[in-house]
Amino acid sequence: MQINAHAKCLSSEQSSLDQLDERYSWHPFSQTSERKTFPPIHIKSGEGCWLEDEEGNRFLDGYASCWTNVHGHRCPELDEAIRAQVDRVSHSTYLGLSSEPASRVAQKLSAYSGNRLTRTFFTDTGACAVEVAIKQSLRFWQLSGQKERKKLVSMSGGYHGDTFATMSLSDESPFTSPWQEWALPVSKFKAPTHEEVGGEVSCSEQEESLRDLKRILGERQGEVACVILEPSVQGVAGMTQQPEGFLTEVSKLCREEGCHLILDEIFVGFGRLGEVLVGESKGCEADFICVGKGLSGGYLPLAACLTGEEIFEAFSGPFSEHRTFYHGHTFTANPLAASVSLASLDLLETKISKNDLNPRIKWFGKCIRKHFLEHPRVRAVRQKGFTACLELQAKPGESLSSNRRFARSVCMEARKNGVLIRPLGNSIPLVPPVCISNDEIDLLCLQTRKSLDLVTP
Ligand SMILES: Cc1ncc(COP(=O)(O)O)c(C=O)c1O
Repeated sequence: MQINAHAKCLSSEQSSLDQLDERYSWHPFSQTSERKTFPPIHIKSGEGCWLEDEEGNRFLDGYASCWTNVHGHRCPELDEAIRAQVDRVSHSTYLGLSSEPASRVAQKLSAYSGNRLTRTFFTDTGACAVEVAIKQSLRFWQLSGQKERKKLVSMSGGYHGDTFATMSLSDESPFTSPWQEWALPVSKFKAPTHEEVGGEVSCSEQEESLRDLKRILGERQGEVACVILEPSVQGVAGMTQQPEGFLTEVSKLCREEGCHLILDEIFVGFGRLGEVLVGESKGCEADFICVGKGLSGGYLPLAACLTGEEIFEAFSGPFSEHRTFYHGHTFTANPLAASVSLASLDLLETKISKNDLNPRIKWFGKCIRKHFLEHPRVRAVRQKGFTACLELQAKPGESLSSNRRFARSVCMEARKNGVLIRPLGNSIPLVPPVCISNDEIDLLCLQTRKSLDLVTP
């Protein structure tokens, strides 16, 4: 394993690429005025957990290419699935047409839900999968003669995407507040949180959270359409975790009230926490599950909303009744994305059945503990599955103002040390590809730690 320092001087070829990018591109979640100090790296290729830039510098992908990558870059089985599909057809619409790979992915997703959520509605982004769940839930109640069920409930700290409905469901932040005026009304209940690796969440936090949900459902009795939350780990909130049994209790409250439960598994599914679907593995019977990111192994844009027969059937009837679910996206169920997803799911099933993930998850937790638990610049550490978050501080007891961008400086330093990570405010999430080896976990933690030691807050 070889690490190259990120070149400080750009070659003329890279420099002209950079000019091209600077002149014509607009990158997501990136302040253009800071481009000079936080320039994009021009990625040329990848292999396994590594990405390589135009200069030949190699970087460990500590961000799993936006939390998506499962089996690594250029995984032979996944590459082959795409090649084989290209030789058949790259895109044909799913509006009125179908394709074998998409039907097979839908069949697999249904099986992961214990054949309970038998219907898959494909989209191309996670946010759109959540939009579909919300629209189907609201419309279901209209179609079933319960028009008063139109309130939306979500859990505080959540992140569900950047479209208007998903921003409304997400936690209010500088990312969403400029559009607050146009937000949908959403009631938010308190999330349970904890701040330790492998630590237990105190019962009072769980009870407080459930009490809050119960209060909202009680005040809005018969009016709530659905409750949505990220199960087990809230990613953008900083990998905050929920206690064992929490989901089951939420599910019970939703059942008692008669409203839908939507699990947003876009981040946590497909091996990220060790299993394929998180809610199902905890015995939580949601009415909708939204998936994305790792569904295609992190290769192509594919996401979906799963639901059951009762909801599906409500949309069925004579044309004149207009029960049709009028929603769709141009690239819905793209055959290339579905083919690679099928190959990725096959591979993931094999890895899970061989217990390939759990020992490496344990190792990840051990390394995170070793390097960061006692670190004077780390205020809190959280880890679960292949997710971790380091909340930084200037020194013990001294927190950082949001304008002191310590985490960002650490991530820039990490680039020089051959690791790609991205800050979340003054926290650093570590979210490697699910296939990361123990040696690569060591390296990710060591180089992040080294970068943390070198940068002055
Ligand atoms: C839990 C969760 N839901 C939804 C989304 C939005 O997915 P997308 O970026 O594909 O729209 C994300 C993205 O990070 C996410 O973490």
